[in-house]
Amino acid sequence: MPKIKAKRNKTIDTTIDEGVRYLDRCKKIDAPIKDIQEIINTTINGDFFNTVKLLPNNSIDLLIADPPYNLTKDYHGNTFSKKKEEEYEKYTREWLTLVYPLLKEDASIYVCCDWGTSLIIGRVLQDFFKVRNRITWQREKGRGAKANWKNGFEDIWYGTKSNNYTFNLEAVKIRKKVIAPYRVEGKPKDWQETKNGNYRDTCPSNFWDDITIPFWSMSENTAHPTQKSEKLLAKIILASSMPGDVIFDPFLGSGTTSVVAKKLGRSYLGIELNPQYCIWAEQRLEKAQANTSIQGYVDGVFWDRNSLSEQNAFNGNENGNLEKADQICIEYDELELVNPQNLLED
Ligand SMILES: C[S@@+](CC[C@H](N)C(=O)[O-])C[C@H]1O[C@@H](n2cnc3c(N)ncnc32)[C@H](O)[C@@H]1O
Repeated sequence: MPKIKAKRNKTIDTTIDEGVRYLDRCKKIDAPIKDIQEIINTTINGDFFNTVKLLPNNSIDLLIADPPYNLTKDYHGNTFSKKKEEEYEKYTREWLTLVYPLLKEDASIYVCCDWGTSLIIGRVLQDFFKVRNRITWQREKGRGAKANWKNGFEDIWYGTKSNNYTFNLEAVKIRKKVIAPYRVEGKPKDWQETKNGNYRDTCPSNFWDDITIPFWSMSENTAHPTQKSEKLLAKIILASSMPGDVIFDPFLGSGTTSVVAKKLGRSYLGIELNPQYCIWAEQRLEKAQANTSIQGYVDGVFWDRNSLSEQNAFNGNENGNLEKADQICIEYDELELVNPQNLLED
């Protein structure tokens, strides 16, 4: 009997016909590409290690990589097996060596990892790039361990190829309620006074606690086992690229990087081994054509988690013009804690 989907489960479904159509849009590359424009805004279905050698040098403005972490994990039939530390280091060196020449001199790179993989990636990345920061993302959810601390965070290493790079601070400020409203000559100092409260757009730190994993109540969710949230990608892309820039994801998964790049007016390119994930990427890209909203990023502002009522009040809305999914997400934040289906595998 087919499983009945819960009413609020918004996880993307694909019929066989749709799957065929979406896969048809993906590219396979078997000859060198001279100009990145020939291949821009596509999903490449193939093995990164074979395909990347065919891409043109000096063509990428921002690289976002979310490689398989050093854990045994089944990516719908393709299993990544946990390697010895030296082997994972070799694997990391290998893919970094291959992407390095593709990046422009003023390009930036972000690499996602869990705490164990972070020890290796942080070290290796320094041999290639100027490492500028380690972002810690408190994703909270994770499977509890019997004799260890639960994995509640991931790292995102940030580096640049040179000292000449893009960083758009204003684009990634976070709107927070002002706790101590400081005034100079009676006027608010760096904060806004509204009838619904006082707010300040604050500089974002390298500790990100305002982003959830995608819940099944969110319309961006697919069945990919390690999908990242669009809000997380939005921060990276807005901070480290300009409209029109080329953003490349060598381990695309369900397409989050490409989808957010498209929503934010950037060009994109991604490689993914698994055809099913390429299908989801293309399906999401099609949806992004009509709906460019990014949950948690509203009218050019990043808001804290579960702040829908504040967002509405700030914007003077009773019900708000925000996606219904925002509301549902709040409820599911709590529900998720008791629903084992939603626990991430570590
Ligand atoms: C951690 S996931 C990326 C998830 C992605 N950030 C998202 O939001 O969906 C890593 C992805 O790399 C893919 N992958 C692993 N080895 C690959 C290879 N050699 N070439 C291309 N893709 C590969 C896996 O199939 C998996 O989807």
